Amino acid sequence: MAHPLARTVVGLGFQNPVLLAAGTAGFGREVAGVINLECLGGIVTKAVSREPRPGNRAPRVAEFPGGMLNSVGLANPGLARVTAEQIPWLASHVHAARVIVNVVGFEAGDFAEVVAGLDGCAGIAAFEINLSCPNTHAGGVEFGADPATAARVLELCRARTRKPLFAKLSPALPDIAAMALTVRGAGADGVSVVNTMPGYLYADGDAPRLGNGNGGVSGPALLPVGVLAVRKIMDRSGGMPVMGVGGIRSAEDARQYLRAGAALVAIGTAAMCDPRIPERVVRDLERLGG
Ligand SMILES: Cc1cc2nc3c(=O)[nH]c(=O)nc-3n(C[C@H](O)[C@H](O)[C@H](O)COP(=O)(O)O)c2cc1C
Repeated sequence: MAHPLARTVVGLGFQNPVLLAAGTAGFGREVAGVINLECLGGIVTKAVSREPRPGNRAPRVAEFPGGMLNSVGLANPGLARVTAEQIPWLASHVHAARVIVNVVGFEAGDFAEVVAGLDGCAGIAAFEINLSCPNTHAGGVEFGADPATAARVLELCRARTRKPLFAKLSPALPDIAAMALTVRGAGADGVSVVNTMPGYLYADGDAPRLGNGNGGVSGPALLPVGVLAVRKIMDRSGGMPVMGVGGIRSAEDARQYLRAGAALVAIGTAAMCDPRIPERVVRDLERLGG
């Protein structure tokens, strides 16, 4: 008999709807000692860029009562090393959980190059296109802030793979539902909402708490923001595959997203604070009947 939480989303079978969110569980290997990846619906890897990125100056994370502010700067080993070192580990250790690779770029063509470079690797089920990063050809404005640019990125990626594509959107967009429709029209199979919300905190005096100054807000404060984003997208689209992300710490939080129409949910900050949480969310969802 099929597992009660099992579902098919963007043509892929998931044993349950609970995933680890991009950037908070590395490439799986980093957390495999403390999280049983195989009991989850899937893992979204940390962002992969064409070239290696050292990331931003420390400190990279700062806690505050509503959650966390981070500016990791999309640190990652780059396409070549990820392909050679990280994806083979995932392919040989993660079977029941789906592997979704988060992709980042700084010019529109970068995203498609990373997708093309990873497309033939065993073990990758789908890609998540991180549109919340600065377009160096547009003065650093986010790709996801301009519909034509976001559509171009998705079209270029679509041309390089037949695997499902999720577009990851920022909660700071003025009309997130319109952007979801735009990226769907350009080839996205689904959307992931939400990424972190831009934020800033001072240390003592005038210095920022983060080495980079600005950062992204994650954690509990994002829960109602993300649930509203899912609702808006479901209302306007008449239903499309959505991965709900932001502030999930419990099965009750996950159910907020599921009730709004999300097909999948992903847990980030909470799993960094307590790696037992994702498995507990799966167990409690099973107990609650989804
Ligand atoms: C330390 C850290 C690193 C992140 N890195 C990425 C990333 O590489 N790509 C991406 O799309 N989102 C990234 N995110 C955003 C998360 O995937 C998620 O959308 C956000 O944190 C909200 O979920 P949460 O409240 O459960 O953490 C990162 C978040 C954090 C806290």
